[in-house]
Amino acid sequence: MAKCRVCNSKIEPFMSFGKMPIANGFLTLDQLSTEYFFELSPAFCSHCGMFQIIEQPEAEKMFHENYAFFSSTSKYMQKHFKEFSEYVRDSFLIDQIDPFLVELGSNDGIMLRNFKEAGVRHLGIEPSVNVANIARDQGITTISEFFDLELAKRIVREHGHVDAVLSANVMCHIPNINSVAEGVAHLLKPAGVLVFEDPYLGDVISKISYDQIYDEHVFLFSATSVSWAFGQHGLELIDVSPQITHGGSMRYIFAAKGSYPVSPNVTSILEKEKAQGLDKAETYEIFKQGCENSRKALLGLLEELRREGKRVVGYGATSKSTTVTNYSGIGPEHIEFISDTTPIKQGKLTPGAHIPVKSHEDFINNKPDYALLFAWNHAKEIFEKEEDFQKQGGKWITFVPRVEII
Ligand code: TYD
Ligand code: ZN
Repeated sequence: MAKCRVCNSKIEPFMSFGKMPIANGFLTLDQLSTEYFFELSPAFCSHCGMFQIIEQPEAEKMFHENYAFFSSTSKYMQKHFKEFSEYVRDSFLIDQIDPFLVELGSNDGIMLRNFKEAGVRHLGIEPSVNVANIARDQGITTISEFFDLELAKRIVREHGHVDAVLSANVMCHIPNINSVAEGVAHLLKPAGVLVFEDPYLGDVISKISYDQIYDEHVFLFSATSVSWAFGQHGLELIDVSPQITHGGSMRYIFAAKGSYPVSPNVTSILEKEKAQGLDKAETYEIFKQGCENSRKALLGLLEELRREGKRVVGYGATSKSTTVTNYSGIGPEHIEFISDTTPIKQGKLTPGAHIPVKSHEDFINNKPDYALLFAWNHAKEIFEKEEDFQKQGGKWITFVPRVEII
């Protein structure tokens, strides 16, 4: 029997997506025979409310010197992180003398570059060396290690305590959330804050965006579950702020208990989560049914287009799409190739499904009848960029919140 990573209660998966490869594990032909698979099965802990996957591959299998996710591939995300850093500066740093901040999982420096440009003392922690090097090349101070209490102690010894610990789309990646919370509590000054954002469980459930469930996302957070998890370590949820990134995210702000007033936003989000049933096991049974329906509808549509001899390609070789293709049984027989702007993914095969990844130029020069939008979270940016595709008769297929042709 598995145990909850937060509160140690016994938990059981409510479904399985089957055997899954590493979501960002793009492969060359000679790597096919050694591809790694694990069982992707999510569980809900009814004691502390944490949504989690039972089995997660070891961190070194996912985050390494060939990590394929580069945060700065989206223009919209660059703007988002500029705004995020302005929010932190204006809310928490403005009165501090020589403030110091730490970001957990700083990737290619998409957030910290804004602080670096403003001359703010900062330290990025990014275990994936290749993306960390891009940040270093821009003068962003970065160390390539995994964060825990030990590292927190070393940072305090070497640089002193911290005004703000930041993280975006990283906290939900770290299985030992208790060690991270202890580390953060150790790092912070008495008035220091922890500000992080991640894909929001409430959106995943309401949109049936089950593709947010993959190896890296060991947790999908709600305000209920994070306040429980960090509350164990003396940190209090003082505010929340919904974000549209990654198809629906939530920003959480924590501080030492009693050090800040708690915003009314916190009470209202906790009530909203109760009303949505995020605290009830039945909700996840309904979600499971929704996943099965979504899978059937998408595969059914692709089979039909294949019978009609239509050309279909994928758009955006996202981490999320690994769950969609492998769970739904979508392969190169349905999708000719996936267009992606990330050089390290191009010329490789997608994890598990083995669909070739090609450059954006291949999409432009070889326009298909249909494009399946795996990067649905960037729909606005992509539709603007690809106006010509639609003008020339091309059609988009999406599957969130429902399978449809646009
Ligand atoms: P993203 O949706 O951010 O996330 P995840 O991997 O977390 O599921 O990934 C976007 C992918 O789509 C990334 O590989 C870059 C690619 N992409 C394009 O190819 N073209 C675009 O215009 C955009 C915005 C993204
Ligand atoms: Zn629990």
